[in-house]
Amino acid sequence: MESKSVILILFASLIATASAGNFYKDFDITWGDGRGKILNNGNLLTLSLDKTSGSGFQSKNEYIFGKIDMQLKLVPGNSAGTVTAYYLSSQGPNHDEIDFEFLGNVSGQPYTLHTNVFSQGKGGREQQFKLWFDPTANFHTYSILWNPQRIIFSVDGTPIREFKNSESIGVAFPKNQPMRIYSSLWNADDWATQGGRVKTDWSKAPFTAAYRNFNANACVWSKGRSSCKSSSAASKTNNANWFTQEMDSTSQARMKWVQKNYMIYNYCADTQRFPQGLPKECRAA
Ligand SMILES: *[C@@H]1O[C@H](CO)[C@@H](O)[C@H](O)[C@H]1NC(C)=O
Repeated sequence: MESKSVILILFASLIATASAGNFYKDFDITWGDGRGKILNNGNLLTLSLDKTSGSGFQSKNEYIFGKIDMQLKLVPGNSAGTVTAYYLSSQGPNHDEIDFEFLGNVSGQPYTLHTNVFSQGKGGREQQFKLWFDPTANFHTYSILWNPQRIIFSVDGTPIREFKNSESIGVAFPKNQPMRIYSSLWNADDWATQGGRVKTDWSKAPFTAAYRNFNANACVWSKGRSSCKSSSAASKTNNANWFTQEMDSTSQARMKWVQKNYMIYNYCADTQRFPQGLPKECRAA
């Protein structure tokens, strides 16, 4: 009787750590001289920025494809001039990168969520959004689905952007370079808020962003080989099979809703910037 309940409790806590991840296990604070902290037995991570410096962390693992979720609660109040970057990146001159960047604002004005995709060192694929909630009041889930056919950026399960594999028309797609997860909080008041017109109010420092509930259904790259969390096992636990996932009509409709109501910049619509014609992947879409 007693041993049975002990086993049950053990099992329950194993499930909890498997789904919530643990910052001690999965990440290293890489810079910031104590401004980045792992708290609550590894369940919470915070980054801070003060007048001296910001801070940052990176994943211990490198990943090649995955569905990666993280909950973030952004710098509250007057966050003007601050940038919280959360992204996947490989290394080297022809690197691949998948970016979320949160540009702070003065109190009461909306954050800008900036996204970009680099393949083989080439970026310039910015799309920017406002959010339909206050991202500083609570934790919200920001997800990157990255499989061989597409990259989908989602916020609380709502897709906001899809970058399709357009190799068939000569556009490089990130698929050969393993990437780590990175995040950093830093000062960029020369450009970040309202085009750099609003500066950081250092009397409000330190500025702090918080992270929790990291979850990766992903292929981990190690010693030149990848090993994936079985996607069939994942689908049994009613988690869609991320490796082949596409957007169904419901997801398409939700993404359209976001893009219609909350998108504030789209490189694919910036004909002034590309007088010789929009990038190929824009014309295909
Ligand atoms: C800040 O608020 C202003 C005014 O609402 C808005 O134009 C701008 O896009 C917001 N975001 C940033 C990062 O400046």
